[in-house]
Amino acid sequence: MPSGSNTLKPVSPAGLLDRSAPARGEDSMLVLQRNARTLCTLCHRFNIEPSTAILERVASIYDRRPSWVTAESHPTDLLILYLAARGLRPQRVVEIGVASGLSTCGLLAGLADAGVPAKNPQDGRETVQSFDILEHVPWDENRPIGAAIAEVLPELAAGARINTFRTSLDLERELGDVPVDLAFIDGAHNHPWPLIDAIQLSKVMDPNGWIILHDVALVERAMLEAHLRRMTKLPFTPSRGAEWHFEMWPSEKLRGSESGHNVALVRPLPLETLRMHPNLQALVALPWESAPPEAAQSILVEFCGSEAVERGKILGRPGQALLPSS
Ligand SMILES: C[S@@+](CC[C@H](N)C(=O)[O-])C[C@H]1O[C@@H](n2cnc3c(N)ncnc32)[C@H](O)[C@@H]1O
Repeated sequence: MPSGSNTLKPVSPAGLLDRSAPARGEDSMLVLQRNARTLCTLCHRFNIEPSTAILERVASIYDRRPSWVTAESHPTDLLILYLAARGLRPQRVVEIGVASGLSTCGLLAGLADAGVPAKNPQDGRETVQSFDILEHVPWDENRPIGAAIAEVLPELAAGARINTFRTSLDLERELGDVPVDLAFIDGAHNHPWPLIDAIQLSKVMDPNGWIILHDVALVERAMLEAHLRRMTKLPFTPSRGAEWHFEMWPSEKLRGSESGHNVALVRPLPLETLRMHPNLQALVALPWESAPPEAAQSILVEFCGSEAVERGKILGRPGQALLPSS
């Protein structure tokens, strides 16, 4: 059949998995209004009255993103970050994976609207501590990590410290005694990095806090994009790390709906609960998609056992260019 003769247009499921961020100039308020269930679920969980004003606040942040921010969060991601920060009123927030800092803006706005001070009164340090393995945004080496914050929310930028060349392995060393009650994991999504990040966060977090996970639905996203673009192959290789972590992490869970389906929340857990938990052992034994440094692998051995770690490494080896050849 010649291309273009098929008049049936592929249609995105209404409101579900809006695949990508709205184009520049598109009304992000309309996008957010299609996410009523996500709004209500999060508001209910965090004791906030749902309102149009909340959507307008988040849309205004999203619409102020500078033109150089080409890879960005979806407005619904910002909505979830905003609501969690506003409802939880955390003393300290940790973010793993910052890039432009658009997500940091969602957190900062929620904190400010809840009246949480920019600096923690106990240690005088910025309430939001953001960590990134790089010094410059991955797609533009002229922009420092977090550079969008000063452009989008200059009045709140003093509330975030951007810790570059840092990963979750540095958390214990970099953070003081103030317990972390909210975290956002959006760094390396390839397995087993999200698990490493969550174990490391559990070492510094209050067990009543929440960890927000980004990109828990990358497979659905890739399949939907292939469908919409009539492709016979997936347009990108989706990492499974965040999705597997969300499924198997043994805590209370919460997930966004509609286009918030790609974001989920889990609880940090006491280390004695995590150590050798059967779910963690099964999780780490799934095929590794990356080769974390030795220090991170030692943490996994401590929490999951060497047998399960070896199994994940061996299963991950075929085709995984990132894994060491030895
Ligand atoms: C998807 S971007 C973050 C986007 C940002 N959270 C937002 O929504 O605006 C991922 C970032 O994580 C960083 N990164 C990758 N691996 C990491 C790791 N293991 N630890 C910390 N940061 C990492 C990358 O340098 C990149 O800047």
